[in-house]
Amino acid sequence: MTDIPVITIDGPSGSGKGTLAKVVADTLGWHLLDSGALYRIIGAMSVRRGIQLTDETAVAELAATLAISFADDRVTVAGLDLTDEIRTEDAGENASKVAHLPAVRAAVLDLQRSFRKAPGLVADGRDMGTVVFTDAALKIFLDASAEVRAERRYKQLKNKGLSVSLRGLLEQIQERDARDRGRAIAPLKPADDAIVLDSTSLTIEMVVQQVLSQAQNLGLWQPK
Ligand code: C5P
Repeated sequence: MTDIPVITIDGPSGSGKGTLAKVVADTLGWHLLDSGALYRIIGAMSVRRGIQLTDETAVAELAATLAISFADDRVTVAGLDLTDEIRTEDAGENASKVAHLPAVRAAVLDLQRSFRKAPGLVADGRDMGTVVFTDAALKIFLDASAEVRAERRYKQLKNKGLSVSLRGLLEQIQERDARDRGRAIAPLKPADDAIVLDSTSLTIEMVVQQVLSQAQNLGLWQPK
């Protein structure tokens, strides 16, 4: 444990937690950990190396040796740029599969904690508040209905010119939620001391304001 403050933002895919975490980190001038990206990288690299996503020992060994770097909005592994490859629906599925293996989660614990650097860290994921940073100064759990999350994703993909089915996306989200919420280790759930926000009928700006005012109340941040 250290004195360096952490804000954790957990929640299901599509709740807006990634955007929220980035805006809060930028506003406070703190570091950012996108823990989902780590599982996405582990899934993508397993596929590239021909490792079965069910082979717990092999995936965990790979996870422990990857030289991952986040810099200038790019994600690289030993110089290989995976920024776009890890953002596909398939990469999200593969991430969720490797993320339910206990040895894989154990292999990335220290790596995740190494992101805790002064002046502070905003960490987003599924178990940031319940497992990785249990002593966080502020814990947020951002939820939204599966329907609204599927619609948001549908619009994002449409805007990128991709043709997708809303129904298919909803099914994928429900399946991934069930796997993330139902797994034995580090299941997706709010920490006992988390503030639960529901973004179903809130804009991201409204959610950001709520989190910033919580940070201000706790003395973690002062508006300029
Ligand atoms: O947040 P994102 O959609 O990038 O996460 C991809 C997958 O990684 C999730 O569906 C979840 O299974 C897994 N994950 C996790 N624990 C975290 C972050 C992500 O299990 N802290």
